[in-house]
Amino acid sequence: MVEFNFGVEMGYFRANIEKAKGYVPGFQPKETDVVKLNTNENPYPPSPAVMKAVAEVGAEQLRRYPDPLGDKFREAAAEVNGVGAENIMCCNGGDDLLAIAFEAFCDEERLAAYPVPTYSLYPTLAELQNCGAIEVPFDGEFNLPVKLAGSGAALTIVCNPNAPTGTFISAGELANLAEEISGVLLIDEAYVDFAEDNCVGLIKELDNVIILRSMSKGYSLAGLRFGYAIACAGLISGLMKVKDSYNVDAIAISAATAAINDREYFRRNVEQIKKDRGILTEQLRGLRFEVIESSANFVLAGNRDCKASEIYDKLVGRKIYVRYFPVPGLGNKLRITVGTSEQNEKLISALKGILG
Ligand SMILES: Cc1ncc(COP(=O)(O)O)c(C=O)c1O
Repeated sequence: MVEFNFGVEMGYFRANIEKAKGYVPGFQPKETDVVKLNTNENPYPPSPAVMKAVAEVGAEQLRRYPDPLGDKFREAAAEVNGVGAENIMCCNGGDDLLAIAFEAFCDEERLAAYPVPTYSLYPTLAELQNCGAIEVPFDGEFNLPVKLAGSGAALTIVCNPNAPTGTFISAGELANLAEEISGVLLIDEAYVDFAEDNCVGLIKELDNVIILRSMSKGYSLAGLRFGYAIACAGLISGLMKVKDSYNVDAIAISAATAAINDREYFRRNVEQIKKDRGILTEQLRGLRFEVIESSANFVLAGNRDCKASEIYDKLVGRKIYVRYFPVPGLGNKLRITVGTSEQNEKLISALKGILG
């Protein structure tokens, strides 16, 4: 495996880049005979309509630059979310929107704030943008921390459902937070397709709310790289100034549009994952795991008798990959993506073997 060599100081980069650790993505094994439950991909293939749309992309579409705004997708996403096309901006994955937001709102004097533990890309982006990051700890039940509202940050981010806990904060609480802060509130809804509610309604009342959506999870398109922002028209036009002119390509626009339009396939797929999430949660609890109730396509679980690191290593030995984060607050927990029923069964029977 070719590995990046992070952490070499050469003197050519800006000081903050020299010092930055760089984001470490979840392990992507090259072998195919593994049970891969470590990066929250959807275990099912994308809609057949997506494969058809990809096959229909013509040479002329590849010869020319793509639509810079991806209007076909914006219109489809607007319809699905009950907003206007002017409220949507296409992105090269949700991560693209996060990078755009840090660039648009943050600098040395304009800080970012977010509750922790959360998505580990936020501190990396703060390092790259050279803005301070105010990390406000969640309480033991992952409620919205009261102190977040008073941080004075230019960009406040709340991941909802949160990663890696899977916990959900109500739209009402986030509306109050948006009203209390002076800057922008970005609600990272990468996993919202697996939750019972979402915050899209907030953008109609509040001109400082940006919703992040990803096509990687609910729509099985992690390999395509497509996400989008939902916000008031003013925020969208500001963000458009920052994005790359052609940040989504012609194939991606066609495929993502086909995916978001196939509502029936999406609903069936998501319902299956939610059902399997419930079964997996109960089975893990039966094996003496404490499992936080999840609104996402993963669960966070810690075993009462055995160290997470030990379980992780033994699972790797059986070619089963989950995610282990050795970070404060998550010390003894594993994040497990909900797979197909068969993959989940393989995990459970491996855990039975490991835990005796
Ligand atoms: C919390 C969170 N936000 C955003 C993303 C970005 O997703 P993508 O760039 O694949 O759309 C991820 C990906 O895992 C995530 O976990």
